[in-house]
Amino acid sequence: MEIYKTKQEVNNRINELKKQGKTIGFVPTMGALHEGHLSLIRCSKRDNDITVVSIFVNPTQFNDPKDLERYPRMIDKDIEKLEAEKVDILFAPDEKEMYPEPDTRQFDFGYLDKILEGKHRQGHFNGVAQVVSKLFDIIPATRAYFGKKDYQQYLIMRELVKRYMQHLDIEIIPCPIIREKDGLAMSSRNLLLSPEQRKSAALISQTLFRAKELTNMMSVGELKQFVVDTINQNPHLKVEYFEIADAETLLPIENWDEAKEKIGLIAVYCGEIRLIDNIEFN
Ligand code: PAF
Repeated sequence: MEIYKTKQEVNNRINELKKQGKTIGFVPTMGALHEGHLSLIRCSKRDNDITVVSIFVNPTQFNDPKDLERYPRMIDKDIEKLEAEKVDILFAPDEKEMYPEPDTRQFDFGYLDKILEGKHRQGHFNGVAQVVSKLFDIIPATRAYFGKKDYQQYLIMRELVKRYMQHLDIEIIPCPIIREKDGLAMSSRNLLLSPEQRKSAALISQTLFRAKELTNMMSVGELKQFVVDTINQNPHLKVEYFEIADAETLLPIENWDEAKEKIGLIAVYCGEIRLIDNIEFN
C-alpha cells in the first residue's frame, strides 16, 4: 500500500492514475477501523480500479472537545487492516497539512443541516463539509463511499457535491449499516463503552427492529413514544431524539402515508458516549 502524508503528493498520484484511465474509489474515515469501514472498502474495490482510504480525525466536526480527545486513534492497527484488504493508497495527513490556517467557510444545506444531528451537534455538519470538500479536491475520485449509519451525513454529502463541488464529478455511494451479532450498529465509539454499557447498547437496535414490526399496528406518534420509552427504561441509556422522517428529504412525518420511503433516526446517550442508529421502514 502506498502511504501519503501530504496533499500535493497524493493529488499528483491520483491525477497520474486518472490519466492512465483508472477509476478511483475513495473511502474517507477517521480511523479506528471496523467491519463497517471494511465493508465500504470492499464496495469500493468491487466498483473501481483503485481504492483510496483517508484517515484523519477532523477537529472541526467535533462540537464537544471531550469527544475529540477520547476519539480512538490506532493508526498502526488500521494500516494492518488496510493492507489485509489490499487497499491501494492511504492518505494520512496531520492537522497542519489539512488546516494550514483556520477554515472559516460556512456551508449552507438549507434545513438539512439544522435538524436531527445538526440541531443537537451545532456546527458538526459544517465541519464535515469543510474536511470532505478539502478531501474531494485533494482526491478527485470517481466514487466516494459513505455508510448509512450516518444517514443524515450521507444526504449532506450528496448535497455538498450538488451545491459546492460542481467542478468535480464524484458519485456518492451509500452502503448498508453493518451490525454486531446482537444488532448494535458498528461504530468506532463502541470501543469506548464499558462491558455493562456495551450490553445495554444492544437495546437501541433491538428496539428499532421491533418498531419496524409494529408500523402496521401503531400511529407514527405512538411508535415514537414506544421507542423512546423502551430505550429509556434501561438505566444506562437516555434517548436524545427519535424522529420518523421521509427518507429522501428527512422532513419529519406525522402519518405513515405522508412519505413513500420512511426512516426512523435515533441518538442515544449511553453514559457519556453518544450513539446513533436508524432503521428504514420500507
Ligand atoms: O463519517 C466519518 O467518519 C467522518 O464524518 C468523515 C466523513 C470521515 C469526515 O471526517
